[in-house]
Amino acid sequence: MRIAPSILSADFAALGDAIARVEAAGADLLHIDVMDGHFVPNLTLGPPVIESIRKRTRLPLDVHLMIEEPERWVDTYVKAGADYLTLHVEACAHLERALHMIREAGAKAGAALNPATGPGTLEYVLDDLDLVLVMSVNPGFGGQSFIPTAYEKLRRIRGMLGKSDVLLSVDGGVKAANAASLAQAGATVLVAGSSVFGAADPGAAVAALRTAAEVARSA
Ligand code: DX5
Ligand code: ZN
Repeated sequence: MRIAPSILSADFAALGDAIARVEAAGADLLHIDVMDGHFVPNLTLGPPVIESIRKRTRLPLDVHLMIEEPERWVDTYVKAGADYLTLHVEACAHLERALHMIREAGAKAGAALNPATGPGTLEYVLDDLDLVLVMSVNPGFGGQSFIPTAYEKLRRIRGMLGKSDVLLSVDGGVKAANAASLAQAGATVLVAGSSVFGAADPGAAVAALRTAAEVARSA
């Protein structure tokens, strides 16, 4: 199981410290939410902030683009430092081409599904994917309630992926209390914002997520 703290719930004026805390606690990836105020009703950060983060951490950067026409921005975000670049299938008319562009630019390619989007949209691009991101909230904000239909979607995508090493990530409302069930449903990456950066000790929250998920695996 990989733990990917989402900096959306961190103090943006003290990002370097927030990142250092979760890195020291053994986070595996750093999840960065890019929002454009169009695809989702919120605005966050863009390439210059990612460039600055890239200089401050050795963690792989898991960049989640919640933007319209994401294919126009692939090169920019990969140059800024994205290791994984994930775009939304709902925002992308030519998904197969966009996924190829990400790999050609030198990053791992991810596709994200909103809660209402079925896994069938991935059926013909499975070989073009390094990561699938199942949204368990409607994207745009941290701290929303987990939508339980994500469990069945994770199980179906796990079945589609078989034994391949494509990462299966879940994002939205993830906390220690549901980490075990998510691991059992097939998730291999837990993205967590408010349950990590809203905690008094973000490092301990990362450890708690990992412990909870690994109990499920050994059960
Ligand atoms: C939401 C973002 C998430 C967000 C999750 O649109 O994609 O990564 O940070 O926040 P929590 O973990 O608080 O639901
Ligand atoms: Zn996200």
